[in-house]
Amino acid sequence: MRSKFYKFFSPKTAAIPENISLQDMETLLLKAEVAKIPTWHHCIDLGCGVITPGGGKTSSPETELKIGLPESLAGMTVLDVGAWDGFYSFAAERRGAKRVLATDSFVWRSPDIGKAGFELARTVLESQVEDMEIDVLELSPEKVGVFDVVLLLGVLYHMRHPLLALDRVFSVTGKLLILETHVDMLDCSRPAAAFYCGAELNNDPTNWFGPNPLAVKGMLESSGFRDIKLVNTAQVSGTCARMVFHAWR
Ligand SMILES: C[S@@+](CC[C@H](N)C(=O)[O-])C[C@H]1O[C@@H](n2cnc3c(N)ncnc32)[C@H](O)[C@@H]1O
Repeated sequence: MRSKFYKFFSPKTAAIPENISLQDMETLLLKAEVAKIPTWHHCIDLGCGVITPGGGKTSSPETELKIGLPESLAGMTVLDVGAWDGFYSFAAERRGAKRVLATDSFVWRSPDIGKAGFELARTVLESQVEDMEIDVLELSPEKVGVFDVVLLLGVLYHMRHPLLALDRVFSVTGKLLILETHVDMLDCSRPAAAFYCGAELNNDPTNWFGPNPLAVKGMLESSGFRDIKLVNTAQVSGTCARMVFHAWR
């Protein structure tokens, strides 16, 4: 029988010991392919006991629970904005979504990181998730279509123009937006956002704003979303935390 990992075999692959079972050989080949990817963000279970070594520590099913991903997405279309390695795209597909589009720009276009992790996971999982390299600010019904569920996870605080980004996201949301984001200014009782001029948030100069929950709600409403609910709070530290909001069109 030809293994589905046969395509990964090359004479350059680490030497294969003699008398090895097909299953062990698959695991060796898969581990070698995973190790070729310089940076993994997500921990994705690829089978054969191989889990990608994601720095983002994303795991199933707790992470999916935390964002309140509907248990069944049967018959729905899902857009994953800023998908990186695609953990949430594959989770949506596993939950029955009829079409999933994973989009990203910054990481996928980076020469140091790229898209190889997403592509390897998609191949190994035999996934039908589609992909498109597109910036959040370029999203429109004409370019990507309109999706029942849109995931905007860990992306909002990377936006220099967060309101514009939410306007673009609203334009492609058919029903539900699931927004996960860093928040700040929790000690402020008015809608407010911290502005990170440099790399003061996590030593990352691509982080721009930390809105508080009132600001997140106001920003979502100003883009057109309704029925906004805070569904999860995690990693509370000082005036900061991570929060998940659900917002309906
Ligand atoms: C912190 S990671 C979050 C990855 C994933 N959504 C998650 O929650 O685990 C931020 C992602 O947003 C993407 N991103 C940042 N700026 C972007 C932009 N302007 N347009 C599209 N994607 C962007 C990055 O490339 C990266 O994949």
